[in-house]
Amino acid sequence: QESLPAGYHIRPLSVLDYNRGVLEVLAVLTTVGPISKEEFATQFQYWKKQNDTYYVIVITDAKNQVMAIGSVIIERKLIHQCGLAGHIEDIAVASDQQGKKLGLHLINTLTNIAKTAGAYKVILDCSIENVGFYEKCGYKNVGAQMKLAF
Ligand code: ACO
Repeated sequence: QESLPAGYHIRPLSVLDYNRGVLEVLAVLTTVGPISKEEFATQFQYWKKQNDTYYVIVITDAKNQVMAIGSVIIERKLIHQCGLAGHIEDIAVASDQQGKKLGLHLINTLTNIAKTAGAYKVILDCSIENVGFYEKCGYKNVGAQMKLAF
Protein backbone atom coordinates (compact mmCIF):
# COMPACT_ATOMS: atom_id res chain seq x y z
CA GLN A 1 0.00 0.00 0.00
CA GLU A 2 1.24 3.50 -0.85
CA SER A 3 2.12 5.72 2.09
CA LEU A 4 0.27 8.87 3.13
CA PRO A 5 1.50 12.24 1.78
CA ALA A 6 4.54 13.65 3.67
CA GLY A 7 3.63 14.95 7.13
CA TYR A 8 0.18 13.31 7.10
CA HIS A 9 -0.80 10.99 9.95
CA ILE A 10 -3.64 8.60 10.65
CA ARG A 11 -4.74 8.44 14.30
CA PRO A 12 -7.81 8.13 16.58
CA LEU A 13 -10.05 11.20 16.83
CA SER A 14 -9.06 13.55 19.69
CA VAL A 15 -11.47 15.77 21.61
CA LEU A 16 -9.17 18.64 20.54
CA ASP A 17 -10.01 17.98 16.86
CA TYR A 18 -13.06 20.18 17.33
CA ASN A 19 -10.68 23.09 16.71
CA ARG A 20 -8.81 21.33 13.90
CA GLY A 21 -11.51 21.36 11.24
CA VAL A 22 -13.21 18.03 11.86
CA LEU A 23 -16.78 19.35 11.45
CA GLU A 24 -15.85 21.18 8.24
CA VAL A 25 -14.55 17.90 6.77
CA LEU A 26 -17.77 16.07 7.73
CA ALA A 27 -19.76 18.77 5.93
CA VAL A 28 -18.58 17.31 2.57
CA LEU A 29 -20.65 14.23 3.46
CA THR A 30 -23.89 15.73 4.78
CA THR A 31 -25.50 18.35 7.01
CA VAL A 32 -23.59 18.67 10.27
CA GLY A 33 -25.43 21.58 11.87
CA PRO A 34 -24.16 23.71 14.73
CA ILE A 35 -22.35 21.61 17.35
CA SER A 36 -20.82 23.35 20.36
CA LYS A 37 -17.46 22.36 21.79
CA GLU A 38 -19.31 20.98 24.83
CA GLU A 39 -21.69 18.89 22.70
CA PHE A 40 -18.71 17.53 20.75
CA ALA A 41 -16.94 16.60 23.99
CA THR A 42 -20.07 14.91 25.39
CA GLN A 43 -20.43 12.75 22.27
CA PHE A 44 -16.72 11.93 22.34
CA GLN A 45 -16.92 10.83 26.00
CA TYR A 46 -20.04 8.74 25.29
CA TRP A 47 -18.17 6.84 22.56
CA LYS A 48 -15.27 6.22 24.92
CA LYS A 49 -17.57 4.81 27.63
CA GLN A 50 -18.95 2.17 25.22
CA ASN A 51 -15.80 0.07 25.53
CA ASP A 52 -14.38 -1.15 22.22
CA THR A 53 -17.50 -0.20 20.25
CA TYR A 54 -16.82 3.14 18.53
CA TYR A 55 -13.58 3.67 16.62
CA VAL A 56 -13.31 7.10 14.99
CA ILE A 57 -10.18 7.73 12.92
CA VAL A 58 -8.85 10.90 11.33
CA ILE A 59 -6.09 11.75 8.86
CA THR A 60 -4.25 14.98 9.66
CA ASP A 61 -1.87 17.08 7.58
CA ALA A 62 1.56 18.43 8.57
CA LYS A 63 -0.17 21.17 10.60
CA ASN A 64 -2.29 18.61 12.48
CA GLN A 65 -5.46 19.82 10.73
CA VAL A 66 -8.12 17.18 9.99
CA MET A 67 -8.26 16.25 6.29
CA ALA A 68 -10.34 13.06 6.50
CA ILE A 69 -12.49 11.16 8.99
CA GLY A 70 -14.24 7.81 9.24
CA SER A 71 -15.60 5.40 11.82
CA VAL A 72 -16.30 1.75 12.44
CA ILE A 73 -18.82 0.55 15.01
CA ILE A 74 -18.45 -2.98 16.38
CA GLU A 75 -21.82 -4.65 16.81
CA ARG A 76 -22.15 -7.60 19.20
CA LYS A 77 -24.58 -10.18 17.76
CA LEU A 78 -26.14 -13.48 18.86
CA ILE A 79 -25.77 -15.14 15.46
CA HIS A 80 -22.43 -16.67 14.49
CA GLN A 81 -21.89 -17.70 18.11
CA CYS A 82 -22.18 -14.20 19.53
CA GLY A 83 -20.19 -12.90 16.59
CA LEU A 84 -19.03 -9.34 15.99
CA ALA A 85 -19.84 -7.29 12.87
CA GLY A 86 -18.13 -4.04 11.88
CA HIS A 87 -20.20 -1.19 10.45
CA ILE A 88 -18.24 1.47 8.57
CA GLU A 89 -19.94 4.87 8.79
CA ASP A 90 -19.45 8.54 7.92
CA ILE A 91 -16.41 8.55 5.64
CA ALA A 92 -15.40 12.03 4.51
CA VAL A 93 -12.31 13.41 2.79
CA ALA A 94 -11.99 17.21 2.46
CA SER A 95 -12.87 18.26 -1.13
CA ASP A 96 -9.37 19.58 -1.92
CA GLN A 97 -7.80 16.37 -0.54
CA GLN A 98 -9.76 13.85 -2.57
CA GLY A 99 -7.89 11.57 -4.98
CA LYS A 100 -4.76 11.28 -2.76
CA LYS A 101 -5.68 7.84 -1.41
CA LEU A 102 -6.77 9.25 1.97
CA GLY A 103 -10.11 7.47 1.60
CA LEU A 104 -8.36 4.19 0.80
CA HIS A 105 -6.12 4.56 3.87
CA LEU A 106 -9.14 5.27 6.07
CA ILE A 107 -11.06 2.23 4.84
CA ASN A 108 -8.02 -0.07 5.13
CA THR A 109 -7.40 1.13 8.70
CA LEU A 110 -11.06 0.81 9.76
CA THR A 111 -11.27 -2.64 8.14
CA ASN A 112 -8.18 -3.76 10.07
CA ILE A 113 -9.61 -2.42 13.33
CA ALA A 114 -12.74 -4.55 12.82
CA LYS A 115 -10.68 -7.59 11.86
CA THR A 116 -8.41 -7.19 14.87
CA ALA A 117 -11.47 -6.81 17.12
CA GLY A 118 -12.55 -10.25 15.88
CA ALA A 119 -15.35 -9.26 13.50
CA TYR A 120 -16.41 -11.92 10.98
CA LYS A 121 -17.44 -9.22 8.46
CA VAL A 122 -17.52 -5.48 7.83
CA ILE A 123 -20.46 -3.84 6.03
CA LEU A 124 -21.37 -0.32 4.93
CA ASP A 125 -24.01 1.62 3.01
CA CYS A 126 -23.09 3.93 0.15
CA SER A 127 -24.53 5.66 -2.89
CA ILE A 128 -24.21 4.10 -6.36
CA GLU A 129 -21.62 6.81 -7.21
CA ASN A 130 -19.27 5.46 -4.51
CA VAL A 131 -19.52 1.75 -5.37
CA GLY A 132 -16.33 1.97 -7.48
CA PHE A 133 -14.40 3.49 -4.59
CA TYR A 134 -15.36 0.71 -2.17
CA GLU A 135 -14.59 -1.93 -4.82
CA LYS A 136 -11.07 -0.43 -5.00
CA CYS A 137 -10.95 -1.00 -1.21
CA GLY A 138 -11.84 -4.68 -1.72
CA TYR A 139 -15.55 -4.52 -0.88
CA LYS A 140 -18.31 -6.21 -2.92
CA ASN A 141 -21.75 -4.91 -3.76
CA VAL A 142 -24.07 -7.54 -2.23
CA GLY A 143 -27.48 -5.91 -2.09
CA ALA A 144 -29.78 -3.02 -1.43
CA GLN A 145 -30.02 -0.43 1.32
CA MET A 146 -33.49 0.27 2.75
CA LYS A 147 -34.30 3.53 4.47
CA LEU A 148 -37.15 5.21 6.32
CA ALA A 149 -36.05 8.73 7.14
CA PHE A 150 -37.64 10.80 9.93
N1 ACO B 1 -15.99 6.01 -7.96
C1 ACO B 1 -15.07 5.17 -8.46
N2 ACO B 1 -13.76 5.16 -8.05
C2 ACO B 1 -13.41 6.05 -7.11
C3 ACO B 1 -14.32 6.98 -6.56
C4 ACO B 1 -15.68 6.93 -7.01
N3 ACO B 1 -16.62 7.73 -6.51
N4 ACO B 1 -13.67 7.73 -5.65
C5 ACO B 1 -12.39 7.29 -5.64
N5 ACO B 1 -12.23 6.28 -6.52
C6 ACO B 1 -11.02 5.50 -6.80
C7 ACO B 1 -9.80 6.37 -7.02
O1 ACO B 1 -9.71 6.77 -8.36
C8 ACO B 1 -8.69 5.45 -6.59
O2 ACO B 1 -8.45 4.51 -7.64
P1 ACO B 1 -6.95 4.13 -8.12
O3 ACO B 1 -6.36 3.39 -6.95
O4 ACO B 1 -7.16 3.30 -9.32
O5 ACO B 1 -6.24 5.42 -8.36
C9 ACO B 1 -9.30 4.67 -5.42
O6 ACO B 1 -10.72 4.74 -5.61
C10 ACO B 1 -8.94 5.26 -4.07
O7 ACO B 1 -9.35 6.63 -4.05
P2 ACO B 1 -8.96 7.66 -2.91
O8 ACO B 1 -7.99 8.66 -3.43
O9 ACO B 1 -8.56 6.92 -1.68
O10 ACO B 1 -10.36 8.37 -2.68
P3 ACO B 1 -10.66 9.67 -1.81
O11 ACO B 1 -9.58 9.92 -0.84
O12 ACO B 1 -11.03 10.78 -2.72
O13 ACO B 1 -11.96 9.20 -0.98
C11 ACO B 1 -14.36 9.34 -0.92
C12 ACO B 1 -13.13 8.76 -1.63
C13 ACO B 1 -14.34 8.89 0.54
C14 ACO B 1 -15.61 8.81 -1.58
C15 ACO B 1 -14.26 10.88 -1.00
O14 ACO B 1 -14.29 11.28 -2.33
C16 ACO B 1 -15.34 11.65 -0.24
O15 ACO B 1 -15.15 11.98 0.95
N6 ACO B 1 -16.48 11.98 -0.90
C17 ACO B 1 -17.54 12.80 -0.32
C18 ACO B 1 -18.22 12.13 0.87
C19 ACO B 1 -18.65 10.70 0.60
O16 ACO B 1 -19.29 10.40 -0.39
N7 ACO B 1 -18.26 9.78 1.52
C20 ACO B 1 -18.58 8.35 1.45
C21 ACO B 1 -19.96 8.11 1.95
S1 ACO B 1 -20.34 6.36 2.19
C22 ACO B 1 -20.00 6.04 3.84
O17 ACO B 1 -19.72 6.95 4.59
C23 ACO B 1 -20.01 4.61 4.34
